[in-house]
Amino acid sequence: MRIAVIPGDGIGREVIGAARDVLDAVSAAHGFKLSYTEFDWGCERYTREGAMMPADGLDVLRDFDSILLGAVGWPGVPDHVSLWGLLIPIRRTFRQYVNLRPIRTFTGVETPVREAEFDFVVVRENVEGEYSEAGGRLNRGFPDELAIQEAIFTRAGVTRIVDYAFALAALRRGYLTSATKSNGIVHTLPFWDEIVAERAEHHPGVRWDSEHIDALAAKFVLQPGRFDVVVGSNLFGDILSDLAAAVAGSIGIAPSANLDPTREFPSMFEPVHGSAPDIAGTGVANPVGAVWSAALMLEHLGRPDAAADVLAAIETTLAQPSTRTPDLGGTASTREVTEALVRSAS
Ligand code: NAD
Ligand code: IPM
Ligand code: MN
Repeated sequence: MRIAVIPGDGIGREVIGAARDVLDAVSAAHGFKLSYTEFDWGCERYTREGAMMPADGLDVLRDFDSILLGAVGWPGVPDHVSLWGLLIPIRRTFRQYVNLRPIRTFTGVETPVREAEFDFVVVRENVEGEYSEAGGRLNRGFPDELAIQEAIFTRAGVTRIVDYAFALAALRRGYLTSATKSNGIVHTLPFWDEIVAERAEHHPGVRWDSEHIDALAAKFVLQPGRFDVVVGSNLFGDILSDLAAAVAGSIGIAPSANLDPTREFPSMFEPVHGSAPDIAGTGVANPVGAVWSAALMLEHLGRPDAAADVLAAIETTLAQPSTRTPDLGGTASTREVTEALVRSAS
C-alpha cells in the first residue's frame, strides 16, 4: 500500500511523525507493509519557489493508495493562497466529496459539558457549497468597495452527501440530523432541505430530523449524547466539527477522512486541526487527531483489524494522566504520547 505523506506546516510535521511511528508499529504487528513517499509541500516551499506544490503535484498524488496530510497554513503566507494552493485542490480534484469527522468521549479525557458519554459523526460536504471561487471583489480602495461570495449547491452534490450520511446512519444507530438555516437563507438551504426530505424516503430505516445551525450548535454543547450522524454543508460541517472536538475535550484529538467513495481517486486523511503556529516547535502538540486519522486510513485500506488496534492504543494512552498533552490538562510531550501509543499498538 503506497501512501503519499504531506506533513505540511507547523505542528502538521510534528503530528505526522507520530502517525507514521504508530502506523509502523501496527503494520509490523499485523504483518503488512506500508510504503511512504514524503513531499515537502507547504508554506516553506511557497516562500522558496512561489508555489505550494509542483505544477504536476496532483498527477503525482493520483497514483497513491492514500494521502496522509498534517496541516497547511503559516503566518506570512495568506491563508487563501496556501489553502487554495494545496489542500482544497486535492479535495476537489480527487472528488473527495465526503469529509467524515467522527468524535467521541474517552475515559480520562475531561470535557466541558455535562453529558458523560457521546459518540457521533459529522458528515461534511467537502467540495462545493460556501467554499467557492464564484464571486469577486470590486472597487478596491474606494468607498463603495464590496465583496460577493456565491455559495454553490448542486442537486447531484447534495444528493450524494445526504445519501452517504443516511447510509452511514443505517450502519450506526439509525438517526440522522441535517444542519440547515432555511429560516434565514433564502435559496440554498431550502433546496438542501428539500433534497434531504426526498432522500429520506429511500432510507426508511433511518429516523431523521433537521435543525437550524444556530440551535444545533447549542445542542452540541447541551446534549451531545443525542447525536448519531450529523450532515452539513461545507462551512456548517467545518464549524460543527471543531465545536464537536472541543466538546469532546480538545480539537487536538479529532480526525478526518476526505473520501472519494467511488475509489476512483486516492482519499486523504488529516487531523481536523490546523498548523497551530502558537504551539508549533514546542513539542506539545497532541498527536491523537493525526493518529486517529491514520486509523481511518487503515480502515479505508481494508485493515479494520489494525485500525481497531490503533483506536485501542488511543484509549489506553488517553486513560493515563502521564500520557496526556497540555491541551488535555496533562504535561506529556508529543514524543511521550507517541511512545505510549507505539508501545500499545505494537
Ligand atoms: P488551529 O487548529 O491550527 O489552532 C487552533 C487552536 O487549537 C490553537 O490554539 C492551537 O494551539 C490549538 N491546537 C490545534 N491543534 C492542536 C493539537 N494537535 N494539540 C494541541 N493544541 C492544538 O487553527 P487556526 O489557528 O485557525 O489556524 C492556524 C493555521 O492552520 C491557519 O493557517 C489555518 O488556515 C490553518 N488550518 C489548516 C487546516 C488544514 O490543513 N486542514 C485546518 C485548520 C486550520
Ligand atoms: C479544515 C480547515 C479547512 C477547511 C481550511 C483550512 C480551509 O478548517 O479542514 O477543517 O475549512 O476546510
Ligand atoms: Mn476546520
